[in-house]
Amino acid sequence: MHDHSSAGQILAVLFDLDGVLTDTAEYHYLAWKRLADELGIPFTREDGDRLRGVSRRPALEIILGLSGRTGSEDEMQEWMTRKNAHYQELITRVTPADLLPGVATLLNGLRKRGIKIAVASASKNSPEVIRRLEIEDSIDQLVHGGMVERQKPFPDLFLRAARELGAEPAACIVVEDAAAGIEAAIAAGMVSVGLGPEERVGKADRVFADLEGVTADNLLGIA
Ligand code: BG6
Ligand code: MG
Repeated sequence: MHDHSSAGQILAVLFDLDGVLTDTAEYHYLAWKRLADELGIPFTREDGDRLRGVSRRPALEIILGLSGRTGSEDEMQEWMTRKNAHYQELITRVTPADLLPGVATLLNGLRKRGIKIAVASASKNSPEVIRRLEIEDSIDQLVHGGMVERQKPFPDLFLRAARELGAEPAACIVVEDAAAGIEAAIAAGMVSVGLGPEERVGKADRVFADLEGVTADNLLGIA
């Protein structure tokens, strides 16, 4: 544990999107699963968990690696496009009711305390998901994978979000459900809060099962 958070210092909270604010991590899994099935590659839920937070191309490389398969650049492009089409089909179902329990209350609580809020997601589909969740007005900034070169576990996306909000990294808390995201937060010098099992997010400064019942004070480490 290296909890360097203290209530007064925190100015901003950077939320991951998929698997944190809404359960689109499941849709990413289902879309990859469909592609893996189409390619005849065995792919389990546990394999899917390793892809959390991992951007499109490295995720495909991990899946191909499961069966020792490789593809030409054209094939890789076609498979990534196909997975994305599967994913885009799934997210047409997203509505405001898909905001995970506790999220709306937490966003409001942070707002009331004057804490800046960003969504920092590797997903190029995140603007669409945010729109469908109807939370544009509850956040100050959205930064997504299309805005930086290097993806999580590199710190670039979180550093970009902090810069956009005018907050020093040490004044930011990152909320993440993925191992790659926690690594990115640590690399950025931010306070990290992990959601999910210890095996996945145990490196975080603090771990909650999910955001249900987590208050702004809990998140800021005051209560
Ligand atoms: C992350 C998801 O948020 O975004 C990953 O956790 C996904 O599963 C990544 O691969 C990239 O998303 P997209 O929508 O740009 O392919
Ligand atoms: Mg995530």
